[in-house]
Amino acid sequence: MNDNLHQLRCFGCGDRIAGSDARPDFRCVHCGDLFEVEYAGWNQRKGHDRPNAGALKWLWRERRSSSEVLDQSGVWRFRELLPILDSFGNAVTLREGNTPLYPLLRTAKALGMDQLFAKHQGMNPTGSFKDTGMTAALSVARERGFEWVACASTGNTSAAMAAYAARAGLRSLVLIPEGKIAWGKLSQAMDYGAVTCQLKTDFDGCVSVLTEIVQRAPIYLLNSVNPYRLEGQKTPALEIAEAFDWMVPDHLIVPGGNLANSSALGKGFRELHELGLVARMPRISVIQAEGANPLARSFRLNQGKAMEPVEAHTRATAIRIGNPASWRKAAKTIQETAGWCLDVTETEIAIAKAELGAEGLGCEPASAVTLAGLKKLRAENKIAGSESVVLVLTGHTLKDADYTIDFHRGTLLTDREKAGYEAELDQLRRNAVVVDATPAAVLAALEGSAG
Ligand code: F0G
Repeated sequence: MNDNLHQLRCFGCGDRIAGSDARPDFRCVHCGDLFEVEYAGWNQRKGHDRPNAGALKWLWRERRSSSEVLDQSGVWRFRELLPILDSFGNAVTLREGNTPLYPLLRTAKALGMDQLFAKHQGMNPTGSFKDTGMTAALSVARERGFEWVACASTGNTSAAMAAYAARAGLRSLVLIPEGKIAWGKLSQAMDYGAVTCQLKTDFDGCVSVLTEIVQRAPIYLLNSVNPYRLEGQKTPALEIAEAFDWMVPDHLIVPGGNLANSSALGKGFRELHELGLVARMPRISVIQAEGANPLARSFRLNQGKAMEPVEAHTRATAIRIGNPASWRKAAKTIQETAGWCLDVTETEIAIAKAELGAEGLGCEPASAVTLAGLKKLRAENKIAGSESVVLVLTGHTLKDADYTIDFHRGTLLTDREKAGYEAELDQLRRNAVVVDATPAAVLAALEGSAG
């Protein structure tokens, strides 16, 4: 490990340790909180030592046309801000990152907004934003000589981990809550050769079991308590800043589950600001599902100072998490950027997902909370029509095809959940019809749908 260039700093008590001294569960021995990667005195560095903002911007853009493997990764392209490996030759990459930023023209118009975009992290190699974090932390595991890696997951982390482990020739262990993850994700872990255990508990229960396992066996933990995951997950912030020609958007909206991603994006923008690459940070807001909303409750009750775990229930299985590990980090990001944390209902999520789909952007339900949250923030006048807003879509629609099909068949929501939204739902639903195999029958169906 390149301990000269980075160290780990406890988020709770500020204690600093070498990267190689972290406990297997990545908790501080003094206060039990999580660590953050900190780089050798960036803040204090002056003159020659401090990375040169203009040179970095030029270098990172140049690399987009390079044929070098590392340059083709949207994570390692920014490697000056990720000095976490002794040798970049140890990086395990599937050409993650460099994901598209799409304008959402129709949705913007409907919401009376000038500039609305979606950063589609579902366009990563395994279909979710987890790839950006996995390339970073799994490379550390490989460099440190681990043979086994493991995670507890609601599905996407396990898919990403299994793929990157397979590329590196490492073995992987996946713990998932039985019956509570989308099939697409389970099939990926199997496809990439992970040892997959479905535990009769929820995500939070899987985390407890794994935390014990990594203390008993030499297995490297790849949940987002691993601070190196966040180093990779901060790079979409760099991509967004670059896409906005280093002006940064006014507002970023992120889904909240275990609450690492919002913290990672906050760290990315914070570092860009500290290094003088951007003039300010965007406002960062986090949206949770109503049935898995411990941080949103905490913001309602005490502005994010204390959080009570909840028993989580939502069809957006990716964010079905009641006791998020990184809540303190996420709360800090929201507070320091003057963002909001709120929750949205199952109906609001389903409608938002269908609206994004109708714009040609397929995402999973957990990602659609961002649009549902934006609609609420607009309705409450917390976002002006003139502000530039980026929604972070975290996973691809094919991850959870069952959800989409159930929505369009009309079987996803209960009558109670549909109440008051019937017209909106009718307009969005596009059920597949069964017709005779004749041109006349298909044309009749076409006429029916046009009406
Ligand atoms: N969106 C998707 C598609 C996710 O898979 C997750 C988390 C989140 C949002 C929330 O991100 O946890 O950093 O706040 N999925 C994890 C997993 C927990 O195991 O795949 P977060």
